[in-house]
Amino acid sequence: MKPIIITQQLSKIYPGGMQAVQDVSLAIRPGEIFGLFGPNGAGKSTIVRMLTTLLAPTSGTAVVQGHDVVQEPLAARGAIGLVTADERSFYGRLSAAQNLAFYAAMQNAPRRHIEERVTAVLDLFSLAHKRDAPAQSLSTGQKQRLNMARALVHDPPILFLDEPTKSMDVQTSDLVKALIKDKLVGEQGKTVVFISHELYEMDNFCDRVAILADGRIRAIGTPAELGAMLPRRALYRLVAAGGDVGTAARMTAVPGVESVVEVSRGASAAAFDVALADEGVWLEVMAAVAAGNGRVETYRRVDDESLRRIVAHFSGKY
Ligand SMILES: Nc1ncnc2c1ncn2[C@@H]1O[C@H](COP(=O)(O)OP(=O)(O)O)[C@@H](O)[C@H]1O
Ligand SMILES: [Mg+2]
Repeated sequence: MKPIIITQQLSKIYPGGMQAVQDVSLAIRPGEIFGLFGPNGAGKSTIVRMLTTLLAPTSGTAVVQGHDVVQEPLAARGAIGLVTADERSFYGRLSAAQNLAFYAAMQNAPRRHIEERVTAVLDLFSLAHKRDAPAQSLSTGQKQRLNMARALVHDPPILFLDEPTKSMDVQTSDLVKALIKDKLVGEQGKTVVFISHELYEMDNFCDRVAILADGRIRAIGTPAELGAMLPRRALYRLVAAGGDVGTAARMTAVPGVESVVEVSRGASAAAFDVALADEGVWLEVMAAVAAGNGRVETYRRVDDESLRRIVAHFSGKY
């Protein structure tokens, strides 16, 4: 199937010289939930702003549903909905339905369909009972759902979600993601681009994920494929009492220890993240702590899907 979003060598240099995005080439398929994943400042929002016609690329091209975002911005805009975390303000005294109708009209939705679309998105986001309530009277969770409803009121085939779940409570976030997967993608065949800097948000949600660091794509694959590319290793959180400042260096020097990061240091104890390529070296690690007059108080295995590790692996940096 022909991709619905295509970028070729898309780049952005902000005035002042900051290269936020460099040579990003993507082909996103219709009906796909595509994740853009990377640390703060990686260039995720800049890519989304270019794809949604809010920002002009410095070079390269971007086409959404056959419309070049620079040549045909109006047609491109009709094909997309955008949700950001900083929820744009509503007209507080207008009702939920009036806000949606106003926005639909701004997006050139056909007049005769507006009423019907407003009802459909209010239903979809469980806001039918708030139809005539002033927007300012809605709860935070309801406003977040109204924000989603607004992005979809003109029935665009493509939805961009720029960290929409950042300010949501877990319940709202789960509800919204289930709706997106089941209704918008599953039933209506829409395409979704989902941005996050949390990998757990992408698992079980995105079909494919692009890992972005310093404005460049470092890897693209299914969450499982990307996970399988990461070298296997075990990460432990170790707390040592009374060790000297050379403790981390001595542990690092033990063969089989991949890396040691001091995560905190108090008056009497320090905590370290110890990554082991070989789990059979614990005695040597403890000896390295003891050599600085320290004593291992606790150590336990911790989850190692940290953003730092993933980005480090795929970008060869940090
Ligand atoms: N309007 C701007 N002017 C100059 N630099 C900017 C502007 N917006 C973003 N940047 C810079 O571009 C880089 C990418 O930012 P952004 O796309 O917002 O990243 P992300 O969404 O991944 O956190 C950052 O270094 C950021 O400081
Ligand atoms: Mg951003």
